[in-house]
Amino acid sequence: MILALETSCDDTCAAVVSGDGHVLSNVISSQEVHDAYGGVVPEIASRQHLQLVNLVVDDALARAHVTLDDVRAIAVTRGPGLVGALLVGLATAKAIAVARGLPLIPVDHLQGHVAANFLGPDPLEPPFLCLIASGGHTFIARVEDHRSFTVLGRTLDDAAGEALDKGARLLGLPFPGGPHIERLAREGDPGAFAFPLARGVRGLDMSFAGVKTALLYAVRDLDAAGGSAGRRADLAASYQHAVVQQLAVRVERALEQTGLQQLAIGGGVAANGPLRDRLQALAPTVRIPDRALCTDNAAMIAGAARHLPPAAADQIAGLDAYATDRQAL
Ligand code: KG4
Ligand code: ZN
Repeated sequence: MILALETSCDDTCAAVVSGDGHVLSNVISSQEVHDAYGGVVPEIASRQHLQLVNLVVDDALARAHVTLDDVRAIAVTRGPGLVGALLVGLATAKAIAVARGLPLIPVDHLQGHVAANFLGPDPLEPPFLCLIASGGHTFIARVEDHRSFTVLGRTLDDAAGEALDKGARLLGLPFPGGPHIERLAREGDPGAFAFPLARGVRGLDMSFAGVKTALLYAVRDLDAAGGSAGRRADLAASYQHAVVQQLAVRVERALEQTGLQQLAIGGGVAANGPLRDRLQALAPTVRIPDRALCTDNAAMIAGAARHLPPAAADQIAGLDAYATDRQAL
């Protein structure tokens, strides 16, 4: 039994996963306090994690019908993420591990997103191609084994979810904007505006700064000409189409280049209906984990930890969090 913690951004998460990869509980406490600011406020996130973390751990144990006596290892996200937020989870995990004499397994958050696919009841076996598109990250990776992945392409600027959130803001929609754009887009024409698809970005890398700026100008031009209100659905549909299309074209290219037959998709943007529909047709096997395993959660951290080595006992106290995507360094 692994108890995992994940506090890299604004969700306080704890999960219990069995040794054979079945999720026994997966508690996610979302900090809605940030919505009023239109984005996550790091200092508020850290303070909220502090208030919630013990409650969330207790809840995860209770929902799994186990106690700490049943737990054999602690897993925790070390980075990348907001350092203050990560430190709350890391300190909690260290404290439980040391007090209980349990091994502590540090996990990279992005490896966690990939490892959501390793969880039961029907784990996906490598090799596969993996698209992770969330509010903080967007990359395409080749997954050859259970311990690591190779990034084949990444966004050069905003993450796809970030682009949707910023676009939503320009359209006067609430944060986080992805689901609101999807809803509004249903009433609009995806071909109404030709937003850029970052064709100039080579290979498997992506860029969402151009489409965001194009939306800004389109809204500004419409407002100058009498108002964009009547065109909001068309704007949302065309914007979503440009984001989805860019992701899909890169995934298609990556499948061609690698010859991989299996595709997995993760991150919050994987909840997007048009993206799912578009990607479903691209490979013989397309895997999209349940929504609760796609967005930030601790079960995926346990899913990764099952295949990773624990920290040496004398290294636990000194384990530090890291802010930056390690693969980008
Ligand atoms: O993985 P996630 O929950 O958190 C991190 O950023 O790590 O992803 C959140 C992102 C937000 O940008 C949100 O707008 C986007 O996922 N999102 C969606 C949908 N649901 C969430 N984007 C498009 N369509 C959706 N249905
Ligand atoms: Zn994430």
